[in-house]
Amino acid sequence: MSVSRRKTRRKKWVGLFSAIVLPCLFLSSRVVSADPVLDIAIGGQTRQFGRDELLRRPDVAQVVVPSDVAYGRAMSYRAVPLAALLVGLNPPADTVIEAIALDGFAAQLPFDLLTNTDPAKAVAWLAVEPVDTPWPRLPSKTFSAGPFYVVWTGLSAATIRSEQWPYQLKRLESQPSPVARWPALDVDPALPATDPNRAGLALFVTQCLPCHTLNGAGASAVGPDLNRPMNPTQYMTRDGLHALIRNPKSVRTWPAQQMDGFTPDQMSDREIDLIIGYLTHMAARRKDNP
Ligand code: HEC
Repeated sequence: MSVSRRKTRRKKWVGLFSAIVLPCLFLSSRVVSADPVLDIAIGGQTRQFGRDELLRRPDVAQVVVPSDVAYGRAMSYRAVPLAALLVGLNPPADTVIEAIALDGFAAQLPFDLLTNTDPAKAVAWLAVEPVDTPWPRLPSKTFSAGPFYVVWTGLSAATIRSEQWPYQLKRLESQPSPVARWPALDVDPALPATDPNRAGLALFVTQCLPCHTLNGAGASAVGPDLNRPMNPTQYMTRDGLHALIRNPKSVRTWPAQQMDGFTPDQMSDREIDLIIGYLTHMAARRKDNP
């Protein structure tokens, strides 16, 4: 009885698989390989841009990036000004743009930063990888930064943080500002406005939250939670943690290691200490439930 029931069920599954799942797999893999798409969802409006369509736009330009963050050297790209793709969109007040990559990396970027076109400041471009001239592999990775990668030019491009150069970008969407969205990230509200832990929180949100959660708060699970079950300041020395954030390979290495660390021009020793100060502060503010 139970055996025959299982058989019918399996038959049903096979039928279902070939009727629905197989064509979907086939279709979706075709779509992905034929023309990758960037999704945008801001203030209730959605837009989609395909790679081929982007490369045919009249505003596509050849953009030289003297010190490209993902490649660690000068690069040149076919790119579209990001402001042109976001024109007419109105994110609600107190929101940021979450830039989500194929691997789940999720950076929080101010809309005004992404839409600036004044070359005296920093200008964001969507670099698009052409099929016929693929980009090189990223250092110590098996893939390139494509199909879509946010790069920066302009006089203050150097002020853009290393984690604000999302590669393998898949989607841009508006979201409430991080601390409003995830109160569990916040410092003790009694701290004065100038308390260094507040600066540490801001740095953590820009540089660490794209890959890590803390107290379960955050959009990405690329790396482990940094307060649950234990906070790294509770099992690493301060010097060891500092060395790990600067260059994880100086502490331990293995082939599948993913975190790259931060060069001194990406984060100063003082900035790393501010983040360690924030982590120490948060160890006493652990929330075991979301
Ligand atoms: C691009 C993604 C990424 C970013 C950005 C990132 N990390 Fe990581 N981190 C990881 C991953 C993934 C691991 C797990 C080890 C590995 O694969 O490298 C990790 C591991 C760690 C660990 C070790 C935890 C343990 O117990 O082994 C610490 C501590 C850490 N990260 C802190 C930070 C801090 C602090 C920042 C911000 C300054 C940061 N990370 C930014 C991806 C990232």
